[in-house]
Amino acid sequence: VTPKIDPQPLAIPPLLKPDRQTDTDDYYTVTAQESETQFLPGKKTKTWGYNAGFLGQTIVFRNGKQTHIDLENKLPELTTFHWHGLNVPGPITDGGCHAPVYPGETNHIDFKVHQPAATTWLHAHPCPSTATQVWKGLATMVIIQDDVEDQLPLPRNYGVDDIPLVLQDREFHDDNQFDYRADYDPDGVQGHTALVNGTVNPYFDVTTQRVRLRILDGSNRREWRLHFNDDLEFAQVASDGGILPAPVYMTKVMMTCAERDEIVVDFGQYQPGDEVTLMTDDTPLCRFRIKSFVPDDTKLPEHLVDIPDETPTPDLPVRTITMDGMDDEVALDGKKFDMSRIDARQKVGDVAIWEIRNTNSTENGMVHPFHVHGTQFRVLARNDGPVYPNEHGLKDTVGVNPGETVRIKVKFELTGVYMYHCHIIEHEDGGMMAQIESYDPQH
Ligand code: C2O
Ligand code: CU
Repeated sequence: VTPKIDPQPLAIPPLLKPDRQTDTDDYYTVTAQESETQFLPGKKTKTWGYNAGFLGQTIVFRNGKQTHIDLENKLPELTTFHWHGLNVPGPITDGGCHAPVYPGETNHIDFKVHQPAATTWLHAHPCPSTATQVWKGLATMVIIQDDVEDQLPLPRNYGVDDIPLVLQDREFHDDNQFDYRADYDPDGVQGHTALVNGTVNPYFDVTTQRVRLRILDGSNRREWRLHFNDDLEFAQVASDGGILPAPVYMTKVMMTCAERDEIVVDFGQYQPGDEVTLMTDDTPLCRFRIKSFVPDDTKLPEHLVDIPDETPTPDLPVRTITMDGMDDEVALDGKKFDMSRIDARQKVGDVAIWEIRNTNSTENGMVHPFHVHGTQFRVLARNDGPVYPNEHGLKDTVGVNPGETVRIKVKFELTGVYMYHCHIIEHEDGGMMAQIESYDPQH
């Protein structure tokens, strides 16, 4: 069923208030809870969320700060709290399969934020029920801020001109409850209704000033081909792990599961009363209604940030990885995930080349988004050729096309066991996942 409903104001997740804050330390409580959410007229939908009914409150971290978090599980089943895109110690703080929080319990983690400003996210990761828990709503945006980004002429008024957009799709039963179709679609579950921050058919009121959209593909399976209905040009200013070296001007952008793109949209060419719509293919996602004229002649600089380009550690063999199969046959390097098996090791601080090959056929295969925990990598080449223009920054997830080989450069700054996998969540739950130990030979 594709519900037809009137345009709704876009939900803007509130910011999670710290329990306590000092100059050096931040203290938070993140609670996974069950609730009910009004998506459609009539009956509410049973949902899960972080400090919220569906999805969650947006969490803001500051680079350099010691961060202390109570992870509280008020759900009827175990969950984990995975910090996707954060450079935190694995595997417990990182929050993958190894870090269950049982119903009624609270775990505690501490880490120092040490990475540039970025849009990252938190989601459940209990193998193999990540897909069902994220589908119910356990995902929320985590914004990292730093002094470098503070100095850039980027919109940063959260909820006004700095807007989170969590893109998802869901299927609803006739009684308005989520219909999770995994049983008959092991290649990943999709729905016919687009949700943006949990809002069906949203609109958002803007002025003629510039707006920054922090877009997260938070869906289980879907790729989004984003563009405006009138082909308005926008500037991508950040990818998964932070600000790009330079803005990339474009009229459309493709996002695969778990990727984040920050774009700056200039509404200066419109008049009050105009409307411009963010689309995916032919489907409207969010209408921007221009309400008033406010002059804004801020220009994006040609150069944004410097990203150190590290030389690969000499004499390290290239690590090759294959992403195999579709349906129930998915595997990584021909193997299904086993939590008790360490599949690879890499010395902490080493800069290694990884070559990831999608063994699907180019005719009818699928894109596998490749994600590594606990680090931000660089994308070096696609089939020995150039990478996409918006891949010159820090990434933790890269779409690998059918038949393609993507080369990346990976360094772990912390020790621990980290997972790497396809981020089509049904594929990761289906075993297209492995783990690597970042080790320190002195210990
Ligand atoms: Cu976004 Cu292993 O996770
Ligand atoms: Cu996959």
